[in-house]
Amino acid sequence: MALPPGFLEELRATTPLPALIGRRVRLARSGRQWKGCCPFHGEKTPSFYVYDDHYHCFGCGAHGDAISYVMQAEGQSFIEAVRGLAAEAGLAVPEEGPDQAVAARAARDSLAVLERATESFERRLWLPEGAGARAYLARRGVSEATARRFRLGFAPGRGALTADLAREGITPAAMIEAGLLRPAEDGQPAREFFIGRLIFPIGDRRGRIVSFGGRRLDDSQTSAPKYLNGPETAVFSKRRTLYNLDRAAAASRAGGEILVVEGYMDVIALDQAGFPGALAPLGTALGIEHLETLWQVSPVPLLCFDGDEAGARAALRAISLALPLITPERSLEIVPLPPGEDPDSLLGRAGAAGFRAEALARRQPLISALYALTRAQFPGATPESRSGFFDALMAAAESIDHRSLQWEYRQALRDRFFAEFRRPPAPVGGAKGRARGAPSRGERAAFPSLPRLRAAPRPGDQTRERVLLAVLLHHPALALEVEEALSGLALPAPLSRLREALLAWVRNAVMAAPESADVAAAAGLNSHPALDSPALIDHLAESGLGEQVAEVRACAPVFAAPGAPPADVAEGWWHFFGFSHRERLREELAAAQRDFEANPTPRAERRVLALREAQNRLNAGEPDPAGNDGEGAGGNEAHGHGIEGRRGGAASGFAEG
Ligand code: UTP
Ligand code: MN
Repeated sequence: MALPPGFLEELRATTPLPALIGRRVRLARSGRQWKGCCPFHGEKTPSFYVYDDHYHCFGCGAHGDAISYVMQAEGQSFIEAVRGLAAEAGLAVPEEGPDQAVAARAARDSLAVLERATESFERRLWLPEGAGARAYLARRGVSEATARRFRLGFAPGRGALTADLAREGITPAAMIEAGLLRPAEDGQPAREFFIGRLIFPIGDRRGRIVSFGGRRLDDSQTSAPKYLNGPETAVFSKRRTLYNLDRAAAASRAGGEILVVEGYMDVIALDQAGFPGALAPLGTALGIEHLETLWQVSPVPLLCFDGDEAGARAALRAISLALPLITPERSLEIVPLPPGEDPDSLLGRAGAAGFRAEALARRQPLISALYALTRAQFPGATPESRSGFFDALMAAAESIDHRSLQWEYRQALRDRFFAEFRRPPAPVGGAKGRARGAPSRGERAAFPSLPRLRAAPRPGDQTRERVLLAVLLHHPALALEVEEALSGLALPAPLSRLREALLAWVRNAVMAAPESADVAAAAGLNSHPALDSPALIDHLAESGLGEQVAEVRACAPVFAAPGAPPADVAEGWWHFFGFSHRERLREELAAAQRDFEANPTPRAERRVLALREAQNRLNAGEPDPAGNDGEGAGGNEAHGHGIEGRRGGAASGFAEG
C-alpha cells in the first residue's frame, strides 16, 4: 500500500520513541539519549541506545525507527505497525486514493520503460554503430567486462530509441513521462534526450534504472555539454540519487569502504581497480539528502575532494552540512586527492596502489579536515585572523546538534588551536605557579574567616551559576580547564554576557602572554601569570558589566578565597558544578582520563584528580561546598565553618575581600 509522502514522517515525528520503547525496556538517561538492555538480544550491560528518532544497539546492531521497532518487537507487518502507531498518535491513516494509485502505477510503468531503454542502449553499444563509443571506452581504459557490469550503452539518437521502444508497445507519451523524450514545443516535434552519447544508466537503491547520464564522445565539440543527465521525473530526483548506490551499498555490507567521488568515470575507474564502494552525486554538490542516504549505507563514508582550492571549498561545504547531523555513530572522513587530479586520472597514472598511497592513506578524520580547512581560511598571523579562526572553530563545534559530541569537538578544536598558537614552553624553572601576592599554603590557615552567603538560595535564581562564575572571577585561569562545562550552562542573558566576556578575556590574555607564562600554566591547574583576577574584574567593569560582577562576587564561596591552592579551587568548582550536572561531570572525568592516557602530563593528571575527587565527594553525598541546598546531596548544613570547614560543607562569601 502506498502512503502519501509526509505521512510516515509525521507519524515518526509524533511518536516519542523513548516512551514507546520504555514500555518494554527499562531505559535510563544517558546524556541526551536513553540507554537500556537491548530487547533484541540477551545482554546484561546496556548497549541499546534510544534517540528521539531512532534506536541503535551497539551489541547486535539492531537499528531503526518507531515503525521498525514495533515490527521487530511485536512481530507485526509494516502496515500493522503503522496503523497501531497512528491510532496511538491520533492520526488517521490516509487511504490509498485514486491519485496515489495512479501515481504508483505511473512510476511502475516508467521503471519498465527505463529498463527497456537501458536494454536498447546496451544492445546498440555492441553493434557496429557503437564502434565510436567502444573506442572511447577503450581510450579511457574501461574494459568490456566493466562496461557490461555498469550496463553502459550507446544512444545514437534521431529516433533509434523511439523505434526500439515502439516495438515494445511503448508510446512517446510514456517516454516523455520517463524522461527519455523532450516534449514537443514551438512547433518542434518531441526529440530524444541523448544523441550520439555514451550512456551511463543510473540505478536507484535497489538497482532499478531511474535515469541516464550521457557523455559526448568528442571533447573537441565543446558546444555540447560534456555530460547530460535525464530530467527530474516521478522516479528520478537528482538531489536524492547517487550513481552506483546499489552496488556500493553491497560492497559496504561486505565490509568495504564507501568512497564518494565526483563523476561517473571516477566511479567506474575505481570499481575496475578494485574499489567497488565508489559512488557519486550527479553533477551537483553533495546535499543533505545525499548525506542521509550515505549514512544508511555506511557509518563513516569517505569523501574524496580535489586537493586544490575548489576541492577545499567543496569539502568545507560538505562538512558544514554534515556537522549538525553527525553523532557518535555517523560521521565522515575526508580523502584529499593530489591537486588537479580526480580518482580516474590518479588511477590511470599510479594504479590502485598509487590511489591507496596518494589518496586513501591520507584520509583525515572529520575533525582534522575541519581544523585544517578552516585554518586555511584565516591565513594571516594577526590577532584578528587568529581570533576569526578561533571563532569559526567554535561556531563549527556549536553547529553540532549531538550534545556530547559537540562538547568533544569544542574541546578537541580548542586544544588544537592552543597547541598551535601557544609558544612552546620555556625550560622548567621559570616563573612560579602562584599568582602575584597570593599567600602560600602555610599562610592559608591565617586567612580570616569570611561572612557566609547572605541570602538562602531560592530555586531557579541561578545562585549555583553565580557561584561558578564567582570562582572564575577570582581564579580566571581555571576557566581554561572548565571552558566547555561553563559554555554548556544555561544562563540568563546578563550572566551569559558575563561568561562570554570572561572567556574572551581569558583567551586573549593567554594568547598575548609571554613564553614564561606557559611554564606556570603547565605547572598548575589554574594559575597563569597573565590571568590576574583584579585585571579581569577591572576589564569587566570597564566593559559595562560592573553590576553583574558585583552580583556574582557576592556569591563567591569560601573554597575560592584568593590564594586557595589551585587544586582545591578546581575540585571545589567541579564538585559544585556536579550538583546540577552529574552526568556532565562524569563525561568530563572520562574525557580527562582519556586525555591523560594519550598524553600523561602532570597537568592532565591534576585535572583527572580534581575531577575524580569532585565526583567522589558528590557520590559520598557531601553537601554543597557553597552551602547551597544541594538537590543531589545528602546533608544540608545551613551554616558554614569558615575556610577550614570546607569538607564539612562550608559556605562563605568574601565579596568585599
Ligand atoms: P567533471 O567535469 O569533473 O568530469 O564532471 P569527469 O567526471 O572528470 O569526466 P571525464 O573524466 O572528463 O569524463 C564530474 C561530474 O559532473 C557532472 C557529471 O555527473 C560528471 O560525472 N557533469 C559534468 C555534468 O552533469 N555536466 C557536465 O557538463 C559536466
Ligand atoms: Mn575525469
